[in-house]
Order: sequence, then C-alpha cells, then structure tokens
Amino acid sequence: MEQRIKAIVEAGLNAIKNALTLEELLEVRNLYLAKKSELMGLFGQMKDLSVEEKKSVGAWINEARETLTQALEQKKVGLEKEVLQKKLSQEAIDITLPGRGLPIKTAHPFFLIQEEISDIFVSMGYAIAEGPEVESDHYNFELLNIPKDHPARDMQDSLYMDDNTLLRTHTSPVQAHVMEAAKGQPVRVICPGKVYRRDEDDATHSHQFGQIEGLVIGEHVTLGHLKDTLLVFAKKLFGEKRDIRLRPSFFPFTEPSVEIDVSCFSCGGQGCSICKGSGWIEILGGGMVHPRVLTMNGYDEKSMTGFAFGIGIERVAMLRYGIDDIRKFYQNDLRFLKQFQGR
Ligand code: DAH
Repeated sequence: MEQRIKAIVEAGLNAIKNALTLEELLEVRNLYLAKKSELMGLFGQMKDLSVEEKKSVGAWINEARETLTQALEQKKVGLEKEVLQKKLSQEAIDITLPGRGLPIKTAHPFFLIQEEISDIFVSMGYAIAEGPEVESDHYNFELLNIPKDHPARDMQDSLYMDDNTLLRTHTSPVQAHVMEAAKGQPVRVICPGKVYRRDEDDATHSHQFGQIEGLVIGEHVTLGHLKDTLLVFAKKLFGEKRDIRLRPSFFPFTEPSVEIDVSCFSCGGQGCSICKGSGWIEILGGGMVHPRVLTMNGYDEKSMTGFAFGIGIERVAMLRYGIDDIRKFYQNDLRFLKQFQGR
C-alpha cells in the first residue's frame, strides 16, 4: 500500500509540474484529488485492515493528499502570475507611438451659406419660420395661385406620395402656413429649407436643393422696400461695391414679379467668364405678393400689401466659393468638404 501511494504521489507531482495552463492543472486535480480519484478510493479499501494498519494507511493517504494539494496550490499561483504577466505585456501602451490626430469639424458649404444668409435677414428683424417637406397640393400650389391646370406646374414637377401629397417643390408654401398662423397681422419672415423636384441631375440641377423664402406683409409695403432690402442683402453677401437690378419676370404668386441680378463680384461689371460677359449675375426671384394670394390666405388686400422672394442656396454657395457642379454638395466627398475647414 505504501508503495502504491508513493507511486501516485510521484505521478501526481509530475503531472502538476507538466501542467502548462490553469485548465490543465484543473484536470490534474480532478484526476488525483477528486472523490473518484485512485488516492481517495484507497480510503474505501481500508475497511478490511486492522486498527493499527488503518492508522498508518490513513496517515499516508492524508500526507499524500496534503503534498499534492500544496504542490497544486503553488503551481496555480505560478500559472496565474504567468497569465497576468502575459495580459499586462499584451495590453501595454506604447507611449512612443505618434498620436492620432483629432479631425477638425467642418461645416458643410450648404449650411455655411444658409447660416450666413439667415444672419443677414435676422439682423434686419426677420424671424425664421419652417414648414413641412412633405406638403399637400393645396399648400404647395393652390394657395400660391397655381391652380390644377396652370402651366406653371409643369416647371415644378415633383415626387408624389399620392395624388394630393408631394415633396414640396419650393419653400413658398411656408408663406401660406405663416400667413394662416398670422391671421391677417403683419409678418416678416424667412423660411430656409430643402425642396425637391423631378429633375435629371446635372452640373446645375439636383433633385434636392435648398431655398430661402422671404415674406414681408404690412401696411404700405412697396416694391421699393423689396429693392432696398435685397440691395442691402447683396452688399452684405457679395461686398459693399455691389449693385442690383430688377428685370420683369413672372411668378403666379407675385404681381409684379421680378428677377434680381447682382453686379458681378468678380469683374465688377466689366464682363467676365463668371457673369458670362454681361456684368450681371442672376441671384433670385421675387415680387409683390399677388392680391389673390393675400385674400386666399386671410388678408385684406385693400389695407395690406407684401413682398416675397426666393433664393437658391446652392446657387449662392456656388458663386461664393467658386463651385462648378451642384452635385458636389451631395456626394460627401471629403476632398471637397475639407476645403471648408475652419470657415
Ligand atoms: N418659388 C419660386 C421657385 O421655386 C421662387 C420664388 C420666386 C419665390 C419669387 C418667391 C418669389 O417668393 O416671390 O422657383
């Protein structure tokens, strides 16, 4: 029996020595010290021995168990240390590596211009209004004096949800929402936002683009006010030396309607490639709010008049930054966007 126990201890110590991982060590423990192990099984075989023999065999087994348990404990501490060391060395931070640069925030040129234009009008006392991008036929067309069969609808084909619901083709319907809420009282607002058209995309057309609508209603508002307002706007945006000119035009919701040009900021009016030799650049449309639009939206056209205008955001941004293709606003090309860093 003594030989047998010595052999078990020797084999056990050997297995402990050779265990490479904590998992392997656990297996060794199960094999040599668990209830069903050979060593523990020896207790069962003691019943036939004399009292004297029982005493010494019991002592041998306990001693063997003690020896193996201690060796296991020691090995376990060693292996745990190894695991920790390995983890520490793997997770070490190399403080000699170069840092990762934090990218500087860049505003999109669309929003740079939208904000700049908004700031100019806010400084003149305008409030900012917003309206839905999914609009009803009623607000997008009818309330702006564009009835169902009006040819002006052809120029603003859109993307329809159903017969009566569409993605707005311009920001002008916000005029109708603002007038409705104002209940016949004076207003002075701009309405920046996105609009949608069923257009083939090319260098100057995009199915999505931005507009800023302007609307002023009050007593004695005249075309002179519109002209002066837009002159101030053009000077602030394109420089003190700029002048503007009004050309007759047509929009169903204004009468009279005008197209507004600004004198070329590049050549000063001499004529160059940017103004296509004319010295003038078209920047927006506007006019006096049509009396029918006033009455349809709850105003007394006898006591109140108003002017309105619409500015294309990308068009202004393209002029300001020398961008040659409107599609660049929507392609998320970092080489394009990074050029506006820090502006
Ligand atoms: N809604 C017009 C468009 O999308 C732009 C416009 C022109 C708006 C004249 C106006 C205006 O308010 O008076 O083409």
